[in-house]
Amino acid sequence: MLKIKVPATTANMGAGFDCLGMALNLYNEITVEESDVFSIKIKQSVSKQFMTKDNLIYQVISRFYDEVGKKMPELAITQDDDIPMTRGLGSSSACIVAGLFASNELTGRPLSVDELAQMACQIEGHPDNVAPAVYGGMIIAVLEGEEQKLHHVKITPSDELSFVTLVPDFKLSTAKARRILPQDYSRADVIFNVSRASLFVASMMSNSWGNLGVAVNDRIHQPYRGTLIPNMDKIFEKAMDSGADGVFMSGAGPTIIAIAPRKKEKSLAKKMKDFVKGFDENWDVKILHADLEGARVL
Ligand code: HSE
Repeated sequence: MLKIKVPATTANMGAGFDCLGMALNLYNEITVEESDVFSIKIKQSVSKQFMTKDNLIYQVISRFYDEVGKKMPELAITQDDDIPMTRGLGSSSACIVAGLFASNELTGRPLSVDELAQMACQIEGHPDNVAPAVYGGMIIAVLEGEEQKLHHVKITPSDELSFVTLVPDFKLSTAKARRILPQDYSRADVIFNVSRASLFVASMMSNSWGNLGVAVNDRIHQPYRGTLIPNMDKIFEKAMDSGADGVFMSGAGPTIIAIAPRKKEKSLAKKMKDFVKGFDENWDVKILHADLEGARVL
């Protein structure tokens, strides 16, 4: 029996829209084995909604077999998902990457990890989620040219940093969160983001955490998507007042992540928990850290 573990990811990280992402220590695990009859079990699911051959992992495995020209056997798949769905933490990327890693093992590893990452980008379309899910760490990911070839660099964030993560009880689909964005941006907004995304990467590499509060600021997506997330501005302000070095929307939202030194993580999480109690929505507060390994076969 094969077991694959894939981390959650936070994309954009403020100004790095569609090109920066980081893996977090929250995971989806799948087991896959050949079987006489097809089955999918999802430990957390109360409905049968995702338990047919329309299931994303099954679809990805099926596509992989087609692409490598092999006949797919019947499979028994189980999913143990800790990554909340449709919350901006890369749950679809994790399923796609898990399906690709499982397929590669089942077929005798015809593809390298880089080729798996490339295929995952083609399927998912968001390299800033997919690449950190594959490689772990923080990734700058760029798709280049007509063939959309993935170019990436992995950075190892300091293990002194914590990511206090606020996950609300409502969903926000990436499609909806992309539809709300403008088609065009002013030169001033582009310069604003390029400068901050660059500062963010350099600050993470040099542990210049004092820059993070400025480096996460964004004019490309957060101001627009923020209108879909009740109390986002208040949460940002409270996090900064409570010891965070920077705070940003995770991926397309609605999850919000505050970066802080590990020594402040508990007090920041406690203050945020107390603060969000007053809101109509429920916010689950988790203390997470960077995952440096990425997807793995257990
Ligand atoms: N960069 C993408 C977006 C990530 O913000 O739309 C989607 O998960």
